[in-house]
Amino acid sequence: MADTTTYRLILIGFGAAGQGLARILRDRGSWLEQRYGVDLRIVAVCTRNRGTVYNTTGIDPAVLLDAVAQTGHLRNLPDQRDWAPEDMIERADADVLVELSATNLADGEPATSYVRLALENNLHVITANKGPIALHLPELRRLATEAQLYLGYEGTVMSGTPALRLAWSSLAGCEISEIRGIVNGTTNYILTQMEQGLSYADVLAEAQRLGYAEADPSGDVEGYDAAAKAVILANVVMNAHLSLSDVERMGITTLTRDTIEAARAAGERWKLIARVWREGEQVRASVQPTRLPLSHPLAGVSGATNAITYTTDLLGDVTLIGAGAGGTATGFAIISDILEMHLLWGR
Ligand code: HSE
Repeated sequence: MADTTTYRLILIGFGAAGQGLARILRDRGSWLEQRYGVDLRIVAVCTRNRGTVYNTTGIDPAVLLDAVAQTGHLRNLPDQRDWAPEDMIERADADVLVELSATNLADGEPATSYVRLALENNLHVITANKGPIALHLPELRRLATEAQLYLGYEGTVMSGTPALRLAWSSLAGCEISEIRGIVNGTTNYILTQMEQGLSYADVLAEAQRLGYAEADPSGDVEGYDAAAKAVILANVVMNAHLSLSDVERMGITTLTRDTIEAARAAGERWKLIARVWREGEQVRASVQPTRLPLSHPLAGVSGATNAITYTTDLLGDVTLIGAGAGGTATGFAIISDILEMHLLWGR
C-alpha cells in the first residue's frame, strides 16, 4: 500500500456542513485511507456556543455526531477547551483549517480573520463559507500563495458538485463567455414545493431543517447567497473583479402562490436564475426570478438540486446538474478539496 499522509483538521463550525463532513469520515474514513492514502483526523471542533473540543490524536467523528444528536452540543465531551477559534488556530497541532462558520456577506467576518490567521500559522485552509471567498478572495489567494499553502473553496458554489473545478480545470483552454444557472438550493426547493401547493413559511422551515438554508435564511430568499455565488463565479472563472454590490439582485420574496400558479397555468415555472456574462471589456452579473417554459433545460431542475451552464467557444454549452446544498453534499466538497490538496501538496 502507498504511504499514508495524516491531515489533522480543525473544524470551525459544526452545523449541517461540519456534521456532513463528520458523517463521511465516520462512514468511509478507512476507505479514504486505503484508496487515497489520506488519514483524515478531526483534532478540534470550535463552535460559537455548543462547546469546543481538542485532542491531538483525533476525535472520533461518531462521538461528535452522537453528542450533537443526543444533546445538541459538544459540551459534555472530554477534551473541552476554553479556547476561542483564534487560540485553536494558533495553538493546536494541526495541518488544515476547515472553516464552516455561518456565512456573513456583509464583511465576511469572523471567517475571513480565521482564514487569514490560519494562513499566517502555516495551516492549509478549506472552506465552504461564501463570505471570505466572495468578499476577499484576491487577498486570501495572495496570502496562500506567499505561504505556499492550499486554499480550497469548491464548496462555495453548488456545494460538492464540482462547478468551480469543472470550469477552471476541465474547461481550461476554453473561453467562457457566459455562465447561467440555478445556484441556490433553498430557493429552488421553496419554489418547487410551493408549486405543489405548500406554503412559503412551511417550506422555508423545512429547508432549514434539511440543512439547505443559511443560519439567516434571508440571505437565501433575498438572493444574496446566489449573488455571492455569481461574484465567485465571475471572479474565479472569468477573472473579473466584481463585488456583491455589482450584482443586479432580486430574490424570491415577491413571488406568491398566485404568481407561481399563474406561471404553472401558462406552462411555465419560476426559477431564481444567476447569470454572469461578458459585455465588451466588462463582466456583469445578475440574480433574478425568471419565468421559464417547461421545455427549458433549467425548468426541470427541482428541489435543492442546482444546475450551471458554461457557454464556451470550443464546446458550446456545457451543463452540470447536481446537489446544491445540504450537509453531506457540502461535507463532500471539503473531502474533494482535501484530496486535491493531497495531490498538489501531499506526496
Ligand atoms: N444556503 C445555500 C443554498 C447553501 O441554499 O444553496 C449552499 O451554498
